[in-house]
Formats: sequence, structure tokens, C-alpha cells
Amino acid sequence: MEIKNLKKQAQEELNLIGKIEELKKFEEKYLGKEGKITKILRSLKNLSDKERKKIGKETNEFKDYLLGEIEKRREEIRKREIEEKEKEEWIDITIPPKKIEKGHLHPLSLAQERIEEIFVSFGFSVIEGPEIENEWYNFDALNIPKDHPARDLWDTFWIKSQKSKVKSQKWLLRTHTSPVQVRYMEKHNPPLRIISPGRIFRYEATDASHEINFYQVEGLMIDRDITVANFYFIMDEFFKSFFRKETKIRLRPSFFPFTEPSFEIDIVCSLCKGKGCSVCSKRGWIELAGAGMVHPNVLKAVKIDPKKWQGFAFGLGLDRLAMIKYKINDIRLFYSGDLRFLRQF
Ligand code: DAH
Repeated sequence: MEIKNLKKQAQEELNLIGKIEELKKFEEKYLGKEGKITKILRSLKNLSDKERKKIGKETNEFKDYLLGEIEKRREEIRKREIEEKEKEEWIDITIPPKKIEKGHLHPLSLAQERIEEIFVSFGFSVIEGPEIENEWYNFDALNIPKDHPARDLWDTFWIKSQKSKVKSQKWLLRTHTSPVQVRYMEKHNPPLRIISPGRIFRYEATDASHEINFYQVEGLMIDRDITVANFYFIMDEFFKSFFRKETKIRLRPSFFPFTEPSFEIDIVCSLCKGKGCSVCSKRGWIELAGAGMVHPNVLKAVKIDPKKWQGFAFGLGLDRLAMIKYKINDIRLFYSGDLRFLRQF
């Protein structure tokens, strides 16, 4: 075959090659030991001088040309392979990552943390007390008489057989956080400034605003010249910080055995601005806490001299505060474990 035709054939074959293995075979076919070009070169010796020179030159040129073409093609194939691999392995670093599900705080915990933060900034310490209490701390030391209705089976979860070894006391699930005041005053001398958030238990029917267990934040401040004015100022500052806006509070006379005088703290209803709506039961005000000046009998029960020391105490309804802050209309949602509710915080 003429070199010209061979060249044409080789070029056509080469054009179809897309893989390195194919290229190797092609190289073998033309330039290998038994390759077409090798054979021609080997047969040159049988030709006349003139022909040998001519064909030899042509063949060698063809060989060089083919080597060059093969090399070119090899480079092309390599490049393409790398490009394909890069395409496969390509990572788009601009795609936002999958969201990792993170845990988050319960709305009651959020409210509690905020309350703690504010009171700590006022110089109060955060104290804990037990959820299982005895009669002395929950009632007697707080000046709650033996025949008080709160001691009734219907208001309180009593614990059956447990008797306190120390005072032959009956045990119960605490009905308020006020016993923590007593526990703290027993062990610490005034001046005192504490809050104590915690869970409490009431034996009652549940509805949108009542639960059998809920949370209170107890507060206590004892010093030498504490008056209702100090109390009012602190509570007013607290509510402004907590709700992050101007609010209006009022003290309404009330009765608690462990304070004298006693108040309820009301805040103006943020929904109707005091006009009266369903949330505030048409009153225009929402009750947020019980409070008062600590009763001298309570101070005496913990051996603090009421002539030297006085102060105020309060019990904030944590659930109620969270309901107003986050606009929740049913207390039971806090305890439902419903993720559709919880995911909103
Ligand atoms: N312990 C009361 C309750 O559960 C709330 C309360 C009222 C707490 C007056 C106080 C207080 O510390 O001074 O209803």
C-alpha cells in the first residue's frame, strides 16, 4: 500500500479513538514490532537504492508524523478524562448546607432565663428548693394556720405514707415556691436578696388558665429599711425589662397569711390596653403575682428580728408571664409536648 493511502487510513482510525487502550493498540498496529510501518522499514533493504531512499524518507516522515499525532491524541484523551472526573467530583461550595436539627429551649425556660438575668442584674441570687416539701415549710412557717383551706386534700397532693423523721411532718408536693424563702432565711442572715424559680403542684381541674403543675418565681428581699416603695420600683423595672416596653402595673390589696400588707400585682392588659377583652376577662388588667411585706410571724419563725429587719416577698406566675410575652392563650400547650407548638420558639 502506498504511504499516502496508509497515512489516510491511519488518520481515519486515529480520529475514532477515544480511549488510551485503543490508542495503545493503534500504536502497536503501526509502530509495534509487527506494525505496518515497522514492516515497511524492515523491507527497505530489498529495494533498489533509489527506491529505498525515496520510500525510506517517506516512511520515516510518516513515522515521525504518526508519533506526533499519537502524542497529541494521548494528551487530548488525558485532558478529557481529567475534565470528566472533575465534573463528577465537583462540589458546589455555594449550596447552603443541610440544616442540622438543633435542640432549643422551651418557652418556659426562655422566660425563666430572662427573669433570672434581670433579677441578677438587680443584685439578687438565684436559689433552688425541693419540689417535695413538708407541712412546716409549705404552711406552718409561712403563718398558714392548720385549718386553712389550702391544706385541704382537694387543693394539695399529699404524699401517702412518708413521715418526716425529724418533725413527724406530713409530706406533699409543694403548692407554691414560698417555702424556699423559709429555707433560705433559716440558713442566711439578712440582708437578703433572692429569687427562686420552680415547679409547683395544685390539685385542681385543668382549663386554658389552670394546670395541676406550673411554675412560680419566688422573690424575697430583706434589709433594714425596705418599704413598699422599694418593692414597687423593683417590680416596675422588672416588668419593663421583661416585656421590653413601657408597661403599667398596679398593686391591689389582697390577703396572704405570710405578708402584711398583701397585694396582687396587676399589669395592664397588653392586648386591649386596659379597655377590657377576653384575655383579661374584661377587666383591662391581668394578675401576675401575689406579694406583700413579709409578715413578722414569718421572720420570727426563722429567728430574724422583725424590729430590725423587714422586706418584701412576691410569687410571680411564670406561665402567665410567658403566655403574655409570647401571646399564648392556653397554659396546657406548655405541657403538651406538641412539637408544632414548641418549634415556634
Ligand atoms: N405563694 C403565693 C401563691 O402561691 C404567692 C405569693 C404571695 C408569694 C405573696 C409571696 C407573697 O412571696 O409574698 O399564691
